[in-house]
Amino acid sequence: MNILILQGSPNTDGSTALLCEQFARGASDAGHNVSRIDVAEIDFSPCTGCVTCGYGGPCALHDGFDGIRAQILASDMIVLATPLYYYGMTAQLKACIDRFCSANPSITGKRLDSALIAVAWNADSWTFDALEAHYDTLVRYLRWNDRGRILGKGCGTPSMTDRSRFMKEAYDLGRFL
Ligand SMILES: Cc1cc2nc3c(=O)[nH]c(=O)nc-3n(C[C@H](O)[C@H](O)[C@H](O)COP(=O)(O)O)c2cc1C
Repeated sequence: MNILILQGSPNTDGSTALLCEQFARGASDAGHNVSRIDVAEIDFSPCTGCVTCGYGGPCALHDGFDGIRAQILASDMIVLATPLYYYGMTAQLKACIDRFCSANPSITGKRLDSALIAVAWNADSWTFDALEAHYDTLVRYLRWNDRGRILGKGCGTPSMTDRSRFMKEAYDLGRFL
């Protein structure tokens, strides 16, 4: 399988990236081909809502999202990876997902597999409730097939994350896809 990780933290070597690396190692060990895009490093605009695309494309904007779109359409599985920012995904990852708009029929038509990787400082049981609800709704709307999620509560810094059980859980999610 071709797996694309959309990594939404501006810290490209932070906690989200650590769990992405574990997942990618597991998936590679299982024979999958894994790519990662650090979306905060890509120069693209937020959707302007012009709807020139008619929710189907082509997009009126031509920027760094062109490459992201091409990689999504060449993939079999998308992994959304994000630190929790005010109980949701980062603005960078959300801006990337908003740009799916111009490729909506192509993305839904692929019936992609998907997964969610998230980290947060908070360790309460409800930490990821809002993010999970959003992810589940995206899966439903985009006709994805959820293959699992790593919800790294209490992962406030890379050292906290590195010694957490979520490192192995992320590896296993990739290894046993
Ligand atoms: C702007 C901002 C908002 C945050 N909001 C939350 C939050 O709502 N809940 C929480 O538990 N942690 C929150 N955090 C903490 C991060 O989710 C946490 O430190 C995470 O490990 C950062 O991941 P990274 O190293 O991949 O960037 C926030 C951090 C920042 C910078």
